Formats: sequence, structure tokens, C-alpha cells
Amino acid sequence: MSTTTPPQPGVPAAEPADAPVLEVADLTVDYPQRGGRPLRAVDHLSFGLRAGQTLALVGESGSGKSTVVRALARLQRPSSGTVRLGGQARTRGDAYRRAVQMVFQDPFASLNPAHTVDHHLRRPLLATGRTRRGAQADTAVRELLESVNLTPAADMAAKRPHELSGGQRQRVAIARALAPEPRILLADEPVSMLDVSIRLEILNLLDQLKRRHGLALLYVTHDLATARHFSSEVMVMYRGTVVERGPSDEVILNPAHPYTRLLAESAPSTGATREQARTARRERLDQRARRAAEQREATTEGGCPFRGRCPSVMDICAQRPPAVEVGGGHQALCWLHSTDVRTDGSTDGSTDEGPDEGPDEGTEGSVSDALT
Ligand SMILES: Nc1ncnc2c1ncn2[C@@H]1O[C@H](COP(=O)(O)OP(=O)(O)OP(=O)(O)O)[C@@H](O)[C@H]1O
Ligand code: SF4
Ligand SMILES: [Mg+2]
Repeated sequence: MSTTTPPQPGVPAAEPADAPVLEVADLTVDYPQRGGRPLRAVDHLSFGLRAGQTLALVGESGSGKSTVVRALARLQRPSSGTVRLGGQARTRGDAYRRAVQMVFQDPFASLNPAHTVDHHLRRPLLATGRTRRGAQADTAVRELLESVNLTPAADMAAKRPHELSGGQRQRVAIARALAPEPRILLADEPVSMLDVSIRLEILNLLDQLKRRHGLALLYVTHDLATARHFSSEVMVMYRGTVVERGPSDEVILNPAHPYTRLLAESAPSTGATREQARTARRERLDQRARRAAEQREATTEGGCPFRGRCPSVMDICAQRPPAVEVGGGHQALCWLHSTDVRTDGSTDGSTDEGPDEGPDEGTEGSVSDALT
């Protein structure tokens, strides 16, 4: 039976089995807007990331995923909230940046065309004091290249980015992220700009490296199929709020939130060609501009943030929905699952006759279809 907790800004994090290596509490990021009130890109987000875990962050364009990543990488100052590394209240800038590394979406833009692969890898090795100059650095560069399957390492080290394919460039970017021996990897859509034929190779590589080095991996994606395959847990973000979270299979095969159902139906598949991916990206940029405009207009105080688009909206949705446990650590921020709501959307606070299954019979099938 479902249980109801008091309304929260987002679905709260489930208790982790081990202490998280990164703890995010009430993270909020507002972007100032000229002549208007700030745009809230991330709204009181809380979660923990454990060593050896892959946590997927999914959501449509403009939902705030990259803002989360930038805030965790300390590239964007949060408006409020805390990010703790290894249980410490404060971590010095250089130590934090060593421990938390990023893999960017665009491997064509993330490497400097003027420098060799060797330079891209040797620099962070020396800057972080991981190796001394000379033979020790040579060995470390070779080992990094071999760890991302770029061989023969000596040939690869001498190349410049324009001599590499997109997949090879992303391997260099991953090797560079590993150079400081991080504890956390933030991968923001790491394969969306690559050819379909190599996307799974790169995701498999990230998965192997995560296991080998005991990394905590935050995987940002639009693709629910790979989110399900490569992560143990998923957080679904809408307009800066996590509206659903839980074990990947549960969230993706049995979505409890109407937004997750829509997302599953509209997500581009992993099998899309590069041209299809480009078209999807153009559409996403249009979508993103529209969402930004909506977000500026929308009132964030009170009410479900999804109510303007929700096919199941009820009167009560004008009030902030509670975070509801729908079973097995799977939670949704939605009145549909509250035991305080009758099927007509009214409340009396005393009945258990809530529409726990939600009204959208048959959407589970469409989600499964989207994933197969
Ligand atoms: N530097 C900025 N200044 C003002 N607004 C911004 C800035 N960066 C992002 N935004 C806005 O914040 C919201 C969240 O953007 P963000 O890039 O985090 O979304 P996203 O989920 O990563 O989208 P996408 O899937 O397109 O990468 C959007 O409405 C966006 O327009
Ligand atoms: S049913 Fe209501 S609370 Fe649930 S997603 Fe739709 S608008 Fe939000
Ligand atoms: Mg983004």
C-alpha cells in the first residue's frame, strides 16, 4: 500500500546502503533574468551518490540537468543548498576539482585542436601532482590511453584531435577525466553526439572504468533505455524538480508520474542515426527555448509544476503534491498516488481509496515498446 509524506520541494532521496561519496542537499540554482524574476533552474534537489553506483539523471531539454552538473562541478555557484564530498562540510577548491571530474557532451569542442593527445593527458597528471615529469609521466600517459583502449598508445599520444574520430576523442576526454584519479565522474550526455555504432561502446567503457576504479557516476541522458541499462537508479527531472526517482527498472518500466510516461514515449532511441540525432537535437533546442519561456512565466510557488501539461490533472494539483512511496524505494511527486485523494481529485484525508495505479492504463506497454 502506498504511504503519503508531507509535501516536499522534490522527491527526497532514499536512504543509501553505504555512505554517499557525494551528498547533495537542497541544491537550488536561480539564473538572474534581465527585467524579471530569476529563473529557477534547479529547485531544492537532494540526493546521494555512492562509490560504484551509476545514477541516471533524465529529463527533457531545459529541465535543469546540465545546471545540476555544473553546480556539482563548481562551474556554477548554487543559490542555496550544500554539496558535500566524502562527508566533509567543506573541501578546498583544488582537492574538490580533482575528485569531481566531468565528461562533456561534445568531444569535438572539449579538446584543444592545437595540442596533442599526450599534452591533454600529461597536463592534468602533472598539475595534480600524480606523477613527476619524465619517465613516470610517460608511463602514466600510456596507461591512461590503454585503459580507454586507445592503442598503440605511443601512436595515439602523438595525434592531434582532428586526426581522431568522435569516439576516439571521447575516449581521450574520458582518459583526461581519469588522470587526477577522481572519485566522481559527471557525464553530461556523453554519447549523444557520437555515431550510433559507437555509443554503446563508450557507455560500456564508462561502466567498466566505474567498476575498475570504484567511481560514482552521474549519467545525464535523454535516453531512458541506456539509463535503465547502465544505472541502478534514476531521477526524473522536470523544470528543476525531481518528480520521480527509484530503481531504474521500476521507474522506467512502471513509471508512476505522468511526466515520466510522456518522456518515455517521446525519447529518441539509442538506435537513432547521427542525422536523426541531429534533428532530435534541433527539436530539443526549440523545445528548450519554449520551456525557458514557459518557465519564466510559470509560478513555481504552490501546485504541481507539471499541471499545465498533465493529462491527469485534478483540482487538488493546484496544491504542491506530496512525495509518495509507490513501493521498493520508488517515489513519485504526484497526487495520483496519494492515499489522501479520492478518484475525483478531492480530499478528505481519511480514506485509503487513492488511485494508486494512476489513470493511464496501457502506458506501461508504450514504455516497454520504446525500450525494445
Ligand atoms: N547561463 C544561463 N543563464 C540563464 N539561463 C540559463 C543558463 N543556463 C541554463 N539556463 C536555463 O536554465 C534552464 C535549465 O537549463 P539546462 O541547460 O540546465 O537544461 P538541460 O536539462 O541540461 O537541457 P538540455 O537537455 O537541452 O541540455 C533552461 O531554462 C535554460 O534556458
Ligand atoms: S496528476 Fe496532478 S500532481 Fe500528478 S503530475 Fe498531474 S498535475 Fe501533477
Ligand atoms: Mg544539458
